[in-house]
Amino acid sequence: MKRILKGVATAGILALALTGITAGSSSAASKKLIVVGFAQTGSESGWRAANTLSMKAAFSKANGFKLIFNAADNKPEAQIAAVHSFINQRVNAIVIAAVVETGWDNVLKEAKAAKIPVFLEDRTISSAPSLYATWLGDNFLKEGTTAGLWAKQMVGTTPTNMVVIEGTTGSAPAIDRATGFNAAIKGSPIVTLDSQTGNFTRAGGKTVMEGFLQKYPKKIQLLFAQNDDMGLGALDAIKAAGLIPGKDIKIVTIDGTHDGLTALSQGEFNYVVECNPLLGAGVASLVKAVLAGKSVPKANTALDGAFDQAQATAALPTRKY
Ligand code: AHR
Repeated sequence: MKRILKGVATAGILALALTGITAGSSSAASKKLIVVGFAQTGSESGWRAANTLSMKAAFSKANGFKLIFNAADNKPEAQIAAVHSFINQRVNAIVIAAVVETGWDNVLKEAKAAKIPVFLEDRTISSAPSLYATWLGDNFLKEGTTAGLWAKQMVGTTPTNMVVIEGTTGSAPAIDRATGFNAAIKGSPIVTLDSQTGNFTRAGGKTVMEGFLQKYPKKIQLLFAQNDDMGLGALDAIKAAGLIPGKDIKIVTIDGTHDGLTALSQGEFNYVVECNPLLGAGVASLVKAVLAGKSVPKANTALDGAFDQAQATAALPTRKY
């Protein structure tokens, strides 16, 4: 399933890309702007808000771009319609943060026929790599693995009932984080009671957790929420049920947003794996390189860390998102 992460993925290349377009120049403004259509997933999470800001800052006029921004409210068909519209507008490049992995072939073939390069940002897709120029994002499989290894180590030999709140069904992070997590907990005494989607939103996390708490009263000891926002929503449900998050139910999440690290610092989460949303400068650099005829790696992976309570407390004062 992981097609392009098997390709070249070097932090060094990303670091170069990230430094390539940080400052605008007055000469850029006098040149013809590069018109870029960006098909964003929507605005489901704090991570997504930070990612949108990062993209808008990098694809600025000062940096030589005109950005046409579309947020698809996490509807795959709306996102494909946005890409069609970018093709009809004859943009110079298209950037996609794909809601789901599948369904992209036809529109990508149209973009290719129109000679408009497509760049994948954040999320991977299942189409052939020949249909897009490159991808830049985080290693979701590794994030899931890191979360799972923490859970396995944390429970030790104690039998533990877990529930999972998944991200958007069919999205690369939901698929890959589950794969990584499940492989990492193999051989541990963790039993998955249930796993349902909360669509990467706080409201979704709260609703799903309420359902779990009703269905499995006093049975849940561990929650894996595939992003911070769903974990934060779950906190409300856990507290409303008279339980103490972080103690009665241990919680591991992914993203590392300011709100997520605050919950960890306060002991309501127990571990947070980072997923860096600040991808804009790197993507803008890749767009410029490809339009200038330079060859770029097919896959570019951001570097992510992970946080326990002390590390979250130390990181919070300078956290950028
Ligand atoms: O694709 C990255 C994921 O999408 C983030 O983990 C989540 O918060 C976001 O909505």
